[in-house]
Amino acid sequence: MTSTGQAAEVIRWCRQLARFSEDPNAITRTFLSKPMRDVHTALATWMAKIGMSVRIDAAGNLRGVCPARTAQTPASVAPRFYIGSHLDTVPNAGAFDGVLGTVLAIALVERLGARRFAFAIEVVGFSEEEGVRFGAPFLGSRALAGTFDSTLLERTDERGRSVREAIRHFGLDPGRIADAEAPAGALGYLEFHIEQGPVLENLNLPLAVVDVISGQSRAELTFDGVAGHAGTTPMHMRKDALQGAAAWIAEVERLALATPGLVATVGKISVEPGAGNVVPGRATASIDVRHADDQIRTRAAERIVKAGEEIALQRGLKMTWEPRLEQASTAMDDSMVAMLERALEQTGAQRYRMSSGAGHDAMVLAAKMPAGMVFLRCEGGISHHPSENVRDGDVAAALDAGVAFLDELERAHHA
Ligand code: HGY
Ligand code: MN
Ligand code: MN
Repeated sequence: MTSTGQAAEVIRWCRQLARFSEDPNAITRTFLSKPMRDVHTALATWMAKIGMSVRIDAAGNLRGVCPARTAQTPASVAPRFYIGSHLDTVPNAGAFDGVLGTVLAIALVERLGARRFAFAIEVVGFSEEEGVRFGAPFLGSRALAGTFDSTLLERTDERGRSVREAIRHFGLDPGRIADAEAPAGALGYLEFHIEQGPVLENLNLPLAVVDVISGQSRAELTFDGVAGHAGTTPMHMRKDALQGAAAWIAEVERLALATPGLVATVGKISVEPGAGNVVPGRATASIDVRHADDQIRTRAAERIVKAGEEIALQRGLKMTWEPRLEQASTAMDDSMVAMLERALEQTGAQRYRMSSGAGHDAMVLAAKMPAGMVFLRCEGGISHHPSENVRDGDVAAALDAGVAFLDELERAHHA
């Protein structure tokens, strides 16, 4: 099959998998939800058909192994190279964020046919990168990197079910998460992912090699006031939690606009008791702060939380907050970046390096093995939205670059 033909297949797969959703009218697939099992079944069938041995690890990651050339190295001891991305989505997502990297990895193995390398190739579809269901991202990749903190098992979702219970409910054993860790000596990890921004489209480039992934701080702030009757509580006697949160949200935007290169987002807010004729007694809001420079990011995050405390004090409210994620900016592995740039050039694509404002599993895997990423142009730079889209030609170029990279890795590994 030609690259273009295979690219069309990859895109068809992504659109097919998008139908596995918790919402009949949108693409929403969170950690170990039922549609995730449907995705596993569909991809596991394809992986098995092309000769991969497939399993689901205790963190719910889908994992398929294409063995090494057993002539030289028995499969059990051959070094392993990982390629993948995540299979979960944000609510009302597009069809390509995460899924494209996993499907492209399987298509790459299919493209190799009977060809084998001195290393095994393991394709991974991570179970939870977005952090939607439990407010904690990277659950799957942390398990593979060996950085899964067991306290995460106690995190609960909106229905009060814990990560531990969700893993059990999916038929997996939370006591076996440690077995999901990649063995030492892994050769590396490669993630293909849509850029999720407008840079490549503006430069009219199909692909880019990622050099740094921006760090991120995520937390949840709760403003507590006093609920009251909307008709009888005079304005000057109110302790309106939502008004306090609203003043803080405006301050978040002011602080972010005043800090070059910083992005700060309040993406989720809940109000209690949540009736139109009741002065809100409680407002809980998320905050997501990012910057390529960790010092600027952490200082800004501290200022944002402090602003919440000050506004609460001025309004006679109580503000409490809970950190959700502290993820440092992560440089991709230099030799992987160089090899990926050569691979792109061999396919005729222009060499281009860029940083990533979005977080990715690669930043977690980098703690365990050399990690690298290739971005694909996405139309309009749109992501985390149903109109997310990619071009056949760019997917074909990514497949060609993937084969060229594996050849580079074979040569480097055999050098
Ligand atoms: O939020 C992010 O950066 C990514 O989409 N998980
Ligand atoms: Mn995403
Ligand atoms: Mn993603």
